[in-house]
Amino acid sequence: MDKFKLIEDELQRRKSQHQLRELRPITPLSAVEVISGDRVMVNFSSNDYLGLSKHPLLQERARAFMEQYGTGSTASRLISGSYGCFDQVEKKLAELTQTDSALIFNSGFQANVTVLPALADPEGLILSDQLNHNSIIQGAILSRCKKILYPHNDLKQLTSLLDIHHRDHSRIIIVTESLFSMDGDKSDIDALVELSKTYNALLMIDDAHATGVLGAGGMGLACGKDVDVVIGTFSKALGSFGAYVACSKQMREYLINCCSGFIYSTALAPPVIGAIDAALDLIPKMKKNRKELQENASFLRKSLHGRGFNTGNSTTHIIPVIVGDEGDTLALSKQLDEAGYLATAIRPPTVPEGHSRIRLTLSAAHTQEQTEGLINTFSK
Ligand SMILES: Cc1ncc(COP(=O)(O)O)c(C=O)c1O
Repeated sequence: MDKFKLIEDELQRRKSQHQLRELRPITPLSAVEVISGDRVMVNFSSNDYLGLSKHPLLQERARAFMEQYGTGSTASRLISGSYGCFDQVEKKLAELTQTDSALIFNSGFQANVTVLPALADPEGLILSDQLNHNSIIQGAILSRCKKILYPHNDLKQLTSLLDIHHRDHSRIIIVTESLFSMDGDKSDIDALVELSKTYNALLMIDDAHATGVLGAGGMGLACGKDVDVVIGTFSKALGSFGAYVACSKQMREYLINCCSGFIYSTALAPPVIGAIDAALDLIPKMKKNRKELQENASFLRKSLHGRGFNTGNSTTHIIPVIVGDEGDTLALSKQLDEAGYLATAIRPPTVPEGHSRIRLTLSAAHTQEQTEGLINTFSK
């Protein structure tokens, strides 16, 4: 028996179904331009929503923190890696997110995968939106308790599930994204908070794509709301890397003690913390950029609708152009590519069968000319 046969078969299956994923080397030129091969392309596939990844203040603070603390934090937070800069940033975060406290995680993926199992117990129940990100799905699997997917954003169904199950479990955790990463639509956080209170359920909101962009002071759609656990990321609009949980002091203490993803991993590198610190200083002042971003997104959506494209339920800077068939989606992505636009095709298993799409993500750094160029290419 060839021990690699299973691997080869799976790769062959993916190739034959146009599902093989491949890495594409690119070099960033600016927040919205990249070099791919020998061409300069406009990037409509990055999550750098405010163009902060190349901001001089982030670079300067990253260098300053590196000089003060070194290139690595050398241990997990609980051992000897909890440098003063973590505390400084967590205090800033708690203030900006209007919560009692915050705890930095090494990535959004790591937070979702490990916070859910820390919160769940074998008699618990996780109610998870059907379109939640893979990191939430993996976290729910690792939780080893019962899980039920409710239809996307369907609070009626969620209510009836809560009604049926709320007495049968030690605890119920409702988990959803606030802004869905592949669809660009939002969940109703106020209604979810009400439901969680009515049924005494824990509410966990993944605010990854709204952090820095939407909600009070741009600090996410869950900002200022009575949500038990909010996951935000530094890897998207904040132009850096890592994630945080915004929560009560008690929840923070619990996660420090019981969340494996926090306990058993070396703390983020000081230059990364420096970039985050600077981004958090800039976010409150970027109201105008956030407004322009949403205006640009609205213009792009309307223009695509006018040309007969389906952008699903998007109401934000994440705009799917839903094609359906995988082959057609790849062909469209290739045509956009040839015209100088990086607009990645998203296919199953990331999205359901028959829902392949081009996922467009806008940045406040895109110019009107770049967006119009993209629209004209779609027209052709
Ligand atoms: C909704 C959502 N949550 C979590 C993550 C993971 O965050 P990170 O990239 O910081 O690991 C992503 C990443 O794409 C995401 O889209």
